[in-house]
Amino acid sequence: MRYRRLGRTGLEVSELSYGAARGARTDPAAFIEVVHACIDAGLNFIDTAGGYDGGYSETVLGEALVGHDEVIVETKYCPYENYSPQAAYIGTPDQLIASAEESLRRLRRDRLDIFLGHGIRTLETLDRFMEDGCYEAMVKLREEGKVRFIGISELSEADGTHRILQRAVPTGAFDVVMLTINFLLQTAAETVIPLCRAHDVGTVVMMPLNQPSKESGLVSLAAARECVRRHIAHGNLPAEPPYTAEDLFAFLEPFSIPEAGLRYVLTQDISTCCNGVRSKERLAQNLSVVDPPYLDAARLGRLRELFGRIQWQVR
Ligand SMILES: NC(=O)c1ccc[n+]([C@@H]2O[C@H](COP(=O)([O-])OP(=O)(O)OC[C@H]3O[C@@H](n4cnc5c(N)ncnc54)[C@H](OP(=O)(O)O)[C@@H]3O)[C@@H](O)[C@H]2O)c1
Repeated sequence: MRYRRLGRTGLEVSELSYGAARGARTDPAAFIEVVHACIDAGLNFIDTAGGYDGGYSETVLGEALVGHDEVIVETKYCPYENYSPQAAYIGTPDQLIASAEESLRRLRRDRLDIFLGHGIRTLETLDRFMEDGCYEAMVKLREEGKVRFIGISELSEADGTHRILQRAVPTGAFDVVMLTINFLLQTAAETVIPLCRAHDVGTVVMMPLNQPSKESGLVSLAAARECVRRHIAHGNLPAEPPYTAEDLFAFLEPFSIPEAGLRYVLTQDISTCCNGVRSKERLAQNLSVVDPPYLDAARLGRLRELFGRIQWQVR
């Protein structure tokens, strides 16, 4: 496993990390097995949230991590009613603090390594978060030693060009951001990753496979083609070859779609690529892609030519 610096936190994080969004409630034993397999493989960074699986993700993770204080855990407080782009902002400083306390209890830790505002989705609600006491409450938690580092994550379906992070990162308010970059949404490479580099902010990539379902996303050839079809239906790509051609992704061979997807993210100037898996076998499969140079210039160039103009996440 290779490690990269998480911006100004100075933490060295594994370039592939574990996203604990799925599986804790449906199969806690398998979830714990995957967490232990991650640790054995050298992954030292896990992303979760108070809202994942109704708190089960944190609770089962807390159980899995007993005796593994060295693993860096990132968790989040969502100041919105739900995860839809239109959801109302309901954040308050008291709720943020209560959420952090709950996360500490569920994770069985004295201190949260990284605590994020979850899914900030409009400039207006970013400003509210910064001014209504929520941000101040995060800083207070950090001063009290209950949290080591603070940040925000974005909501790609609402902000495909990262306007929120473009405003937030240069303020210097945050140590870490969680953002989407994958080969079907490449905008961060130009709009926000250079800013993070300039301000020494750690970058945790979410959705490297485009938050896939079995039907659509970067998990198989059929699912990737379906995702392209959906982009065409949304007007993000033209309804013509090569986008409509059977062999659209042939240039990626011998890499499979998920392998090329992870390799694409690892070529970027980011701290860690956070991916979810629900079995040890899947983890092993993904670990086999973490060798530099990840993806050659010709394939990277073709991916940019084909998909570099997409400005919105479509799942
Ligand atoms: N706003 C936010 O802050 C936010 C939003 C979204 C995600 N996240 C975080 O980012 C993490 C990653 O997000 P994500 O959208 O990539 O997805 P995810 O929700 O973690 O799910 C990844 C899916 O990809 C599948 N997969 C992984 N490797 C594969 C392979 N080699 N071949 C085929 N399928 C494969 C997994 O399948 P199996 O289940 O079958 O193993 C899993 O269902 C999440 O877990 C979460 O921690 C944060």
